Amino acid sequence: MTAPAVRRVRTAEWREIRDLRLEAVGDPAASIAFLSTVEQERAHDDDFWRRRAAGASLSDSAAQFIAEDGSRWVGTVTVLLREQGAPDHLGRTVSRARADIVGVYVSPRQRGTGLLGRLIAAAADWAADRGVPELSLDVHRDNERAQAAYRKLGFVPTGETFASTIGPELVMVRPGRVGA
Ligand SMILES: CC(C)(COP(=O)(O)OP(=O)(O)OC[C@H]1O[C@@H](n2cnc3c(N)ncnc32)[C@H](O)[C@@H]1OP(=O)(O)O)[C@@H](O)C(=O)NCCC(=O)NCCS
Repeated sequence: MTAPAVRRVRTAEWREIRDLRLEAVGDPAASIAFLSTVEQERAHDDDFWRRRAAGASLSDSAAQFIAEDGSRWVGTVTVLLREQGAPDHLGRTVSRARADIVGVYVSPRQRGTGLLGRLIAAAADWAADRGVPELSLDVHRDNERAQAAYRKLGFVPTGETFASTIGPELVMVRPGRVGA
């Protein structure tokens, strides 16, 4: 079996971006994984997804990576660059420049294959090429599978915890491009 190809999304792929997001927020773990719901994502019009695709494919401060198994999209991560002193997606002030990993999803049949590591590596390379050496992410306290997956990839808890709209979360960080 050929491993799925990992690459950045393209501007024209707004429908695929939408459909993968709808799959992700429909996952049984979604309530401890994502800050939005199927209803909220379904409420967005096509222009919203076109703008999302433009940013995810072209921006210098955000990028979405996907894994493609033939024509089927089977995983994704998004990386958001944060400047020191700027607010992050939850309005918290960023103490030093970092790359936030959000929107992490691997389709059930691809779980446990190492695909997440390849998606994170693509995001880490992209951030490192822009001079941002540290990756950071938030994970729900009860999302044990995600925490285990992140630990395997070198993420460690910072000790910071906070309450988000989906409940208690913890912060994990990792040097960006491992081995660089
Ligand atoms: C989180 C996610 C991206 C991880 O990818 P993955 O391919 O499933 O991760 P892996 O299989 O490499 O690693 C998960 C580890 O947790 C273990 N695990 C599985 N279920 C577990 C559980 N309930 N509790 C603790 N560990 C668990 C797995 O056995 C594996 O460890 P191992 O390789 O030592 O056996 C994927 O499961 C997913 O998309 N989940 C739904 C969405 C989500 O939670 N996103 C993250 C939001 S922060």
